[in-house]
Amino acid sequence: MSTRSLTFPLDFLWGAATAAYQIEGAWDADGRGESIWDRFSHTPDKVENGDTGDVACDHYHLWREDVALMQRLGLQAYRFSISWPRVIPAGRGVINQAGLDFYDRLVDALLEAGIQPFPTLYHWDLPQALQDAGGWGARDTCGYFADYADLMVRRLGDRVRFWSTFNEPWVSAFVGYRDGRHAPGLQDGKLALQVAHHLLVAHGVAVQAIRATDSQLQVGIVLNTWPVEPATDLEQDLALAEAAWQENEGWFLDPLLRGNYPPAALEAHGSSAPSVQPQDMALIAQPLDWLGINYYSRYVVQKGEIVGPVPGAEYTDMGWEVHAPAFRRLLVRLKQEYPIPPLYITENGAAFPDRVSPDGRVHDPRRIVYLHDHLVQARLAMDDGVDLRGYFAWSLLDNFEWAYGYAKRFGLVYVDYATQQRIVKDSGEWYAQVIARNEVE
Ligand code: FCB
Repeated sequence: MSTRSLTFPLDFLWGAATAAYQIEGAWDADGRGESIWDRFSHTPDKVENGDTGDVACDHYHLWREDVALMQRLGLQAYRFSISWPRVIPAGRGVINQAGLDFYDRLVDALLEAGIQPFPTLYHWDLPQALQDAGGWGARDTCGYFADYADLMVRRLGDRVRFWSTFNEPWVSAFVGYRDGRHAPGLQDGKLALQVAHHLLVAHGVAVQAIRATDSQLQVGIVLNTWPVEPATDLEQDLALAEAAWQENEGWFLDPLLRGNYPPAALEAHGSSAPSVQPQDMALIAQPLDWLGINYYSRYVVQKGEIVGPVPGAEYTDMGWEVHAPAFRRLLVRLKQEYPIPPLYITENGAAFPDRVSPDGRVHDPRRIVYLHDHLVQARLAMDDGVDLRGYFAWSLLDNFEWAYGYAKRFGLVYVDYATQQRIVKDSGEWYAQVIARNEVE
């Protein structure tokens, strides 16, 4: 670690993030409907070890304790997601008052603790009833999503200022509908591209609905970024890295910020390209108040192939390379190439095989180094002129890591799933210090 300390602006927002299906549990409590992740995780061989989100961190019942933990860490903001099937069990129609009440209480408790709520409307848990009607492959789902957004903003918009529509639409579309590793578990590349388009259209109509209800709200979207970096400046490597950017990051950034799909990537998709209605691109490119960036790692290409493992590099328990400098390069690239609104890092973190030590604590020095090094790079990017307003560590708690189940631990706080005991890890204590001092050393 360097000896120089890097101070952040006074109004820089420090937070941590979670998602509904990953922590709430209580999958059928108080009228909650079934989501695609309930169906998927209950299907044999889809999730490691047969794990499901049925109980998870039982946050639905332990939310008071969890808010107290956040307060203890000194969090200034909390990014969580709202479970659509908890508030509208079939995705459309009948509203579940008990579900709304849960988020209402959570928001009040956060505000009382001085923590700014940062809800995401969709973190991958589509109501199963909508999946049965075609899921994100059906254009009607966009309208139901806008209705749901409107419902939430009417209920919480008097107290919640920051909203995001989608978390990582790339993952929903391509891991859910093309690779089949996430719910709904389909493997259809052409459909996945149409789904990606519908997610963007749904974002656009939801932003309109939210602004129609309250034009003062700060609306954004959260994108995953995973830069592919060339190992050499050979034409082949540069071209491959650029094509990967256009196909993945550009596929969402360009429509949202420039109003069109990246032309080369669109052409490369040929007859699989999505069908686009006349007003769609304008609808998608609604002005954004902020953009959320999730960053974990990068790929390296050499001689036309992804290098793996990168010689000398460190890898996390996910098999993801630890490489903080690419984070700064990514942020600077966004600023240089796109008309971006203010940025928030909405997720950044690492999974390591944490254990409770005989002293009763969880010592996770590698996570501290990971977070430290990424915060340094984020701060340096700010010196480069990137308008970064806040940072959310992934994750507040160890939780259900999708197809990996409970095998991967990302938390600042350790969760003993048998007892639901929470133990603040060393990284959690360290992060609390960073927040208190508003600087990294
Ligand atoms: C992101 C997801 C988040 C979590 C992290 C590790 O892609 O948004 O829910 O699973 O990865």
